[in-house]
Amino acid sequence: MTVAGINALRLHVFNGLNRHGWCRPTYLALARSIVDALVGNELAMQNRVNLSIQMPNDETSTLAVHADVWSAETPYEVVEWTPLVDVYDTKAMYILRPEVNRTVRDRMSSLKDGGKDFDLFEAYRDEFHWIPVGYGQTLVFSPILLHGNVRNDTAESRWSLNCRLTGLFTPYASDEKCLGRFYTPVTPKVATRIGMNFRAPEGFDG
Ligand SMILES: [Fe+2]
Repeated sequence: MTVAGINALRLHVFNGLNRHGWCRPTYLALARSIVDALVGNELAMQNRVNLSIQMPNDETSTLAVHADVWSAETPYEVVEWTPLVDVYDTKAMYILRPEVNRTVRDRMSSLKDGGKDFDLFEAYRDEFHWIPVGYGQTLVFSPILLHGNVRNDTAESRWSLNCRLTGLFTPYASDEKCLGRFYTPVTPKVATRIGMNFRAPEGFDG
């Protein structure tokens, strides 16, 4: 398989996986107790479980340092990330711990020229944590923390799944990535179902 051909394979597997009704419930179940503890038990989940493939030495599939809120995602979400292989070294993802992440906003706000020449990766290179994750483990993290990956210099491809979860009644940050369009309710309770289905009578001034 070539780097040029990998995206077609990725899309084929992604579409096939998401066609199954069990896909999202099963993916949520991988980390349900952790997500319940961190986010809550009434959840909205991203509409698709995403698939990424990083072949060895593929420069095109790297994800530069970023926070997902920069792409209009809600700051209330967590990401469930499940590599389908052991990840370590350049095959792992890196993330900035919260204490250091708190300095990013101030630092970026005071840059000249809107930070055009500022290299965030270099600025925090020594602070990033590269998290080894074993096959069969799922990592749950807040994507408000700076994170990314680099070229996979190991000899093996990295296949990984990811999906975002947020509390059903948390604010959503944009019309593009809102409830219904980007997330759907997955675990509403009875009172929530009743409330969502309630329609006030029309023409009654009571
Ligand atoms: Fe991200």
